Amino acid sequence: MSDRSIPVMVNGAAGKMGREVIKAVAGAEDMRLIGAVDLNPDCHGQDVGEVLGLGALEVPVLDRLEAMLAFATQETEPVVMVDFTHPDSVYENVRSAIAYGISPVVGTTGLSVQQLQELAEFADKASTGCLVIPNFSIGMVLLQQAAIQASKYFDHVEIIELHHDQKADAPSGTAIKTAQLLGELGKSYNPPKVEETEKISGARGGLADENIRIHSVRLPGLIAHQEVLFGSPGELYTLRHDTSDRSCYMPGVLLAVRKVRELKTLVYGLEKIL
Ligand SMILES: NC(=O)c1ccc[n+]([C@@H]2O[C@H](COP(=O)([O-])OP(=O)(O)OC[C@H]3O[C@@H](n4cnc5c(N)ncnc54)[C@H](O)[C@@H]3O)[C@@H](O)[C@H]2O)c1
Repeated sequence: MSDRSIPVMVNGAAGKMGREVIKAVAGAEDMRLIGAVDLNPDCHGQDVGEVLGLGALEVPVLDRLEAMLAFATQETEPVVMVDFTHPDSVYENVRSAIAYGISPVVGTTGLSVQQLQELAEFADKASTGCLVIPNFSIGMVLLQQAAIQASKYFDHVEIIELHHDQKADAPSGTAIKTAQLLGELGKSYNPPKVEETEKISGARGGLADENIRIHSVRLPGLIAHQEVLFGSPGELYTLRHDTSDRSCYMPGVLLAVRKVRELKTLVYGLEKIL
């Protein structure tokens, strides 16, 4: 392994996504796993490779991000932090990493528009690259591009996103991002046809700023799925993406790790670096 390999630390290392990232980074020839952080006390002090059944990687799981960030500043090559933690902590995690000059690749969803703006200003001031990617799957980028095409011909659209029942935020960052992409075209969607009454609050889903309704389903047995439904008189056009294994996100994660150190600001969305 060359000394110029990319030093990578993973925050949320013991989670469902963090585990996949550890495996992917450990298997990437141009990367070097230098740190693993997780709040889960069952793993503290253990070798993260042993925790994952990969054999020793000589990287212990730490419980404190600040300690890991301080340690990472001793690296001679610029360090990347991949974050797959929790919507409640991601903002502070990203701020801390940037404060230490470490480039975050953020998969954790749930950052508000205001938090994203603040982090973008913070990254600008620090001249540190940061990638916030609500969905690392290439198929989802293709779905969003197809939705943009379809929106030229359809005025009516709704989004359904379906996830496993451990997901903390709703709607998904991907569904919000899809609505934003459709909104950026400057079109007004879903002109009202009738006056509606909801007999159960929320029955018509959440209304995004773009006047697009988003419906969130949470069930065990699901992983991550999204439908974009376009309707016009006499036809329905449905775009659907299904995730069956979290490994589908890893090519996007590794690409982001390779790109983020070239940036000096915050960039939002995988499509911007493809
Ligand atoms: N961008 C994408 O493509 C993508 C794909 C899947 C999931 N996600 C998002 O990634 C996030 C994590 O998803 P998951 O399924 O891996 O969740 P998970 O609950 O399986 O894992 C989260 C891990 O983070 C740890 N953690 C929580 N707060 C922490 C903190 N402050 N510091 C350190 N560790 C902390 C937890 O102990 C846990 O091990 C969610 O926001 C989810 O929506 C994004």
